[in-house]
Amino acid sequence: MADNYLGKKMEDFLSGKTATPKRTMTFAKLVAKNRSYRGYDNTFTVRADQLRRIMSIVPACPSARNQQVLRLRPVLADEADKVLPHIRLGGALRDMKLPLPGTEPRAFIVICSTVAEDKYVNMDIGIVAQTMLLQATEIGLNGICIGAFDHAAVQQSLALPYEPLLILAIGKGAEHICMVESTESDSRNYYRDEKGVHYVPKLSLETILL
Ligand SMILES: Cc1cc2nc3c(=O)[nH]c(=O)nc-3n(C[C@H](O)[C@H](O)[C@H](O)COP(=O)(O)O)c2cc1C
Repeated sequence: MADNYLGKKMEDFLSGKTATPKRTMTFAKLVAKNRSYRGYDNTFTVRADQLRRIMSIVPACPSARNQQVLRLRPVLADEADKVLPHIRLGGALRDMKLPLPGTEPRAFIVICSTVAEDKYVNMDIGIVAQTMLLQATEIGLNGICIGAFDHAAVQQSLALPYEPLLILAIGKGAEHICMVESTESDSRNYYRDEKGVHYVPKLSLETILL
């Protein structure tokens, strides 16, 4: 039992009674929190500095042959309508039309490549996309990768010099998402219950180990 102030504080911290000194989120928790959101809180507006903070992680990402061919176009609420009509969310939820009205994403990061798409470009895209989404999660935001969109329409509406290959939506997620462990024989389609909870089947480590 500590009888001094700092000792008591440390004792409380170690026993979980206080949040100070602040515990940082473990990496595994950050990854678990980083789910794909298809509905956002429209009372919250993503700021330019927040998108910049998310994109600022990219120069530190690995890149095939270190060619760094990817280019990023931030899109804030004032331009959201140049992207929104051209994206498709929740293709596996055939009975739903997502995003639900009033929950549309209003900020995006459009990822383009200066060279023709090939497997290395696509690997680089995956790495920067997930890294940016983790950075977004760390600062209290959420997002999703969007591969299903009208590439030509987005390129034209944003006057991009390169074809866009992947879009990230960014915002404050307004959905309840749960991962559920599934086996090889289960469907991998995500689904929702009558309360709107979104379930994402995930194969266990044992299943994916060869
Ligand atoms: C490369 C890539 C492209 C994706 N494109 C879309 C898309 O166009 N629309 C969509 O609703 N979700 C899209 N997603 C999100 C996936 O559906 C999502 O990752 C999956 O359902 C698992 O959910 P989780 O990210 O929460 O684990 C994409 C994900 C990745 C990695």
